[in-house]
Amino acid sequence: MHSEVVGVGIWGMGKAVPDRVLTNEELEKVVDTSDEWIRTRTGISERRIVDEDTATSHLATRAARGALQQAQVRPCDLDMIIVATVTSDMLFPATACLLQDRLGADDAAAFDLGAGCSGFVYGLAAAEGFIKSGSASRVLVVGSEVLSKITDWEDRSTCVLFGDGAAAAVVGPCRPPAGILATYLGADGSGGGVLNMPAGGSLRPASEETLQKRLHYIHMKGREVFKFAVRAMGDSAVEVARRAGIQLQDVDCYIPHQANIRIIESSANRLGIPMEKVYVNIDRYGNTSSASVPIALTEAQREGMVRPGDNVLMVAFGAGLTWAAAIVRWMKESDRIE
Ligand SMILES: CC(C)(COP(=O)(O)OP(=O)(O)OC[C@H]1O[C@@H](n2cnc3c(N)ncnc32)[C@H](O)[C@@H]1OP(=O)(O)O)[C@@H](O)C(=O)NCCC(=O)NCCS
Repeated sequence: MHSEVVGVGIWGMGKAVPDRVLTNEELEKVVDTSDEWIRTRTGISERRIVDEDTATSHLATRAARGALQQAQVRPCDLDMIIVATVTSDMLFPATACLLQDRLGADDAAAFDLGAGCSGFVYGLAAAEGFIKSGSASRVLVVGSEVLSKITDWEDRSTCVLFGDGAAAAVVGPCRPPAGILATYLGADGSGGGVLNMPAGGSLRPASEETLQKRLHYIHMKGREVFKFAVRAMGDSAVEVARRAGIQLQDVDCYIPHQANIRIIESSANRLGIPMEKVYVNIDRYGNTSSASVPIALTEAQREGMVRPGDNVLMVAFGAGLTWAAAIVRWMKESDRIE
């Protein structure tokens, strides 16, 4: 492990999405909605959903294997696994521990991180801190969600928005100036009530009443979240660019949390980032919460939109309320410090 201060970069990425596609047309048969409403109000055309037997840890495992393969890192070389999720397999043990077992990453500490849709960027910042402090060298950061199992399929105002998926990053030391240039994390717990799953925890354990009141599903005040999101995305991007010491026009690729195309476009517009530099896949996956930023990052990299030397801006917001941003100068293989 490295005790001197080094850069911290992303060595490899992987993603996993379920095969099953759920289209807007299918949703028209389930709730009072239309493909036209969903596409114009959210930008979503379809989303992926798991089968009955698949849980968050299963998608996480597939995504993690892909990231380890791209990074050429063996599971036994991982020091830490962080799984960002709001849909852990169980309240405990942590999904990260289930993943550790499946991978055979016997030397890795493992814990879950709950920061809503900002979770992956929070995880990236945590990994950077562990690596810079010298207490870990190779950290697997995963965003994985099976939101379809906490979606109220009778509530048209939420069920059209979400999807399932996972993506993972192997994070390790690198030679500056490559690597994470800056991160910025924030929270406003006073907004906890606008987006939550009210029951199933210690406050309101599962009971006949909580089931009848449909409290084991996502509850959201959409308009309030929308207003918060537009403000948080813009402010976070400005602050992280200031911390990184770069201008927003020097961003080569913008990876926003994929919650609503109108939120994405309005933040890009405010930041002066042209849409050609913005990676968008909300049309195919909907909002996959903590998996949204890393899935988009994995695809942007595979499609050549993120290349070594590029400044990549990631910005997310979510339940908590939370927000998080990071700017990473994409590394090449020779920047790695083994
Ligand atoms: C949820 C969201 C798409 C709703 O869009 P909106 O333009 O704000 O729509 P409104 O909530 O104002 O609703 C407008 C109308 O559409 C209706 N509507 C809501 N969902 C609908 C659906 N799926 N199909 C058809 N009509 C729908 C509403 O009932 C409302 O009708 P009314 O005017 O008769 O009451 C939008 O607010 C949003 O994206 N918010 C942020 C959500 C988010 O990002 N969540 C995740 C955070 S990580």
